[in-house]
Amino acid sequence: MATMFDVYPLAPVTITRAQGSYVWDDSDQRYLDMYGGHAVICIGHTHSHWVARIQDQLQQIAFYSNSIRIPIQQEVASLLGKLSGHPNYQLFMCNSGAEANENALKLASFHTNRKLIVSFTKAFHGRTSLAVAATDQPAYVAPVNETSYVHFLPFNDVAAIEDFFAQHGEEVAAVIIEGIQGVGGIHEASDIFLQSIRRLCDEYGAVYIADSVQCGYGRTGQFFAHDHAGVSADIYTMAKGMGNGFPVAGIFIAPHIQPRYFMLGTTFGGNPLACAAALAVLEVMDRDQLMQHAASMGSYLKEQLKTIPSIKNIRGRGLMIGFDVPTEFTGMKKRLFEQHKIFTGEAKPEVIRLLPALNITKEEIDIFIAAVKADIASFS
Ligand SMILES: Cc1ncc(COP(=O)(O)O)c(C=O)c1O
Repeated sequence: MATMFDVYPLAPVTITRAQGSYVWDDSDQRYLDMYGGHAVICIGHTHSHWVARIQDQLQQIAFYSNSIRIPIQQEVASLLGKLSGHPNYQLFMCNSGAEANENALKLASFHTNRKLIVSFTKAFHGRTSLAVAATDQPAYVAPVNETSYVHFLPFNDVAAIEDFFAQHGEEVAAVIIEGIQGVGGIHEASDIFLQSIRRLCDEYGAVYIADSVQCGYGRTGQFFAHDHAGVSADIYTMAKGMGNGFPVAGIFIAPHIQPRYFMLGTTFGGNPLACAAALAVLEVMDRDQLMQHAASMGSYLKEQLKTIPSIKNIRGRGLMIGFDVPTEFTGMKKRLFEQHKIFTGEAKPEVIRLLPALNITKEEIDIFIAAVKADIASFS
């Protein structure tokens, strides 16, 4: 019998249906999803508008290649421009976060005719060749991915990047940075750091790539986490929340970066079905003011966490929140899952990552907080 290639340690559960911030297993046990299926669920599982748009599109046409006009692509670009505050940016659509970063880095190299890429400690940008080369996780980098073109600098260290640009600035094609590092354990880039990157990229003609695959799409209360620092990137990369679970990704490109035929391309990217999913997400975000909701629910969640003295180092913005689990409560993620029926994310070592749907309610947050308190109380 053929089997799956075993690369994922699996939780012992089979989810058979989902709605809003809840999922149900095959014995009808309900779980609260504080993990958003890895920051992907943006407008809630199985949102009715999203389902209807995908179903309608499926009845009309699911796929045709990028060799013809696909007007729904322009609808996605327009609404994305409006909601993100970048109405003059250009959209290139693809299928995953790694692919978005791969395209962004390649485009930066085409644009500048340079090769050096600056990335940062603990960065995660995906599994494809250049994206993984810019990822600071040696276990994910195969020998063939190793390259001398990517330079890792310490995260949030303004002096280090200033020094690097003073020596190599004329050779830098791109700086790629997550506004909040996700896989790295929820670490916010400081405003001054992002502003320094913007200044150096302007001074030396390098491309500022904001990896917004996890921290973008309204999750932090602004469309892009980089917006909190008051900077605009030259290229934003997007994926997870963009399709609410339908595989769709994109790069959003500043007007000064000019396209030319065939410099980028993909078979599946921007297909009508993916666009229908992406459009539904943006429409719901707009109609239900989900960015504002994420900001206020995020503040509430953080405030509630702060009332629990054992929880340390609460960090993040909006609905991208992390905290350290003290060693005496090691295994909290597993217990929240097994005993309290709550999904959370994690980062090593012992960081709980919270990435719920942007339309989570106060009541659902209260359920999570009560479970964390009960877990801690069970040790006394
Ligand atoms: C910041 C960031 N960039 C890129 C990626 C890669 O996205 P994908 O798994 O869709 O290729 C991820 C995935 O976790 C991510 O968190």
